[in-house]
Amino acid sequence: MNREILFPTPVYFKMVQDPKKLNKYLFPLIKAWSKKDKSEEKTNAGGGWHSPTDMNKKKEYEPLTDELFTMQEEIFKDFGMEPKPGLGNMWANINYPGSYNKQHMHPNASWSGAYYVKVPKKSGNLFVEDPRPGPNIILPRRLEGLPKALWRVVIYPAIEGQIIMFPAWLPHGVEVNASKEKGEKGWRVSVSFNFIQVRE
Ligand SMILES: [Fe+2]
Repeated sequence: MNREILFPTPVYFKMVQDPKKLNKYLFPLIKAWSKKDKSEEKTNAGGGWHSPTDMNKKKEYEPLTDELFTMQEEIFKDFGMEPKPGLGNMWANINYPGSYNKQHMHPNASWSGAYYVKVPKKSGNLFVEDPRPGPNIILPRRLEGLPKALWRVVIYPAIEGQIIMFPAWLPHGVEVNASKEKGEKGWRVSVSFNFIQVRE
């Protein structure tokens, strides 16, 4: 018999060019910002610091925004989108031990994602859930060992230096930071963003 997979949900991930160098540069900047500006109240209802969302307009974060644009342009090509991407907004997150991000989506964007600056052991992975209503109502008993494309929830390990991008409508969240490290050694630091499609 034949089979086709329709309505795919693409998830893209890649490492930046020089992860160690970039993260060594970004961490002190984000840490200083977190001492200066109070937290926004968004998806971080599980605690943690959420920066203002104008990070994409700040010159000092260009080494990261350049990497994000390069990847987003590759996705536009792969997914057959044109004209070009624009960065709608961007923000930094610090999940202190015990904090998490509840399941959510990113309305009014085309692609969303995260970049990982600092990920202590057990500080929480990203989970994505089947976005279709049907498969969340009918949950058949199935064999173990099925391919990932058939799962209902998939966990993506957070890896320092990795960018992950997915459709903004894909429900996702971040597990609790269960790090046992003390002080900033236990901080999980990431950057989130929303890409939109803009005119030439
Ligand atoms: Fe998110």
